[in-house]
Amino acid sequence: MPDQISPQFADAWEFASGVSGWLTEAQGELLWTSTERLPEDALVVEIGSHQGRSTTVLAAAVQASGGQVVAVDPFVDGRLFGGRKTRDIFEANLAAAQLTDTVELLPEYSTVARKSWSRPIDYLYIDGKHDYWTLSDDLKWSEHLPEGAPVLIHDCYSSIGVTLGILAHVLPSRRLRYERRAGSLALFRVGKPSVADRLRIVGEIPWWLRNVVVKVLLRLRLGVVAKALFGHRGPYDPY
Ligand SMILES: C[S@@+](CC[C@H](N)C(=O)[O-])C[C@H]1O[C@@H](n2cnc3c(N)ncnc32)[C@H](O)[C@@H]1O
Repeated sequence: MPDQISPQFADAWEFASGVSGWLTEAQGELLWTSTERLPEDALVVEIGSHQGRSTTVLAAAVQASGGQVVAVDPFVDGRLFGGRKTRDIFEANLAAAQLTDTVELLPEYSTVARKSWSRPIDYLYIDGKHDYWTLSDDLKWSEHLPEGAPVLIHDCYSSIGVTLGILAHVLPSRRLRYERRAGSLALFRVGKPSVADRLRIVGEIPWWLRNVVVKVLLRLRLGVVAKALFGHRGPYDPY
């Protein structure tokens, strides 16, 4: 991470932080800095956009170099994600940030969209459905990325489904290596992992178990205990 926040990121974050969603400033900065070595006209694929908090960061990061973000989100209905209304807010947020031309919305389930996808991708961000099966399928999008390209995964080592998918498919993989994380946002790159890269994944297991315990406490309405024991604040699962 750079010591100083770039003014461009600060501007992008000023907008994004006003958009509802699940992305901390440190995570926004990791999304941003991971775009730094991308080629001109880069293609970013984001799976799971919600109201556009992360989308606006990614689009602002690649806009000047002619990049595009494909936002894959079916805008599922329900109390948490909000369906059609969320799509309207997403589109309004992009317009307000003057990023509409930089983002192409693909309003489809990632598992469905992947089957007909054939374009090369330079950067993949996975933050869609967090169950084991969907994450396992979403990892296959990385087949479209070249050596060295970034693959970022949110709720890594916090969601049970996502983490089991990482342990089952990335830990033994010969094609994705783990670099680091900001909270639950983990940065991987396409490339052959070393033993040290694999051990760093194993080293995250205690943090994952801590997060699972926090989640159980929240489900039991014991947020006070989660705060006292683990310093966890607020009603949301750790991310
Ligand atoms: C955690 S939110 C994404 C948050 C967003 N990245 C942000 O910065 O606020 C998850 C999103 O994934 C979407 N989603 C759920 N299942 C999906 C799937 N199979 N493919 C793509 N998106 C999916 C939901 O509609 C929701 O908008």
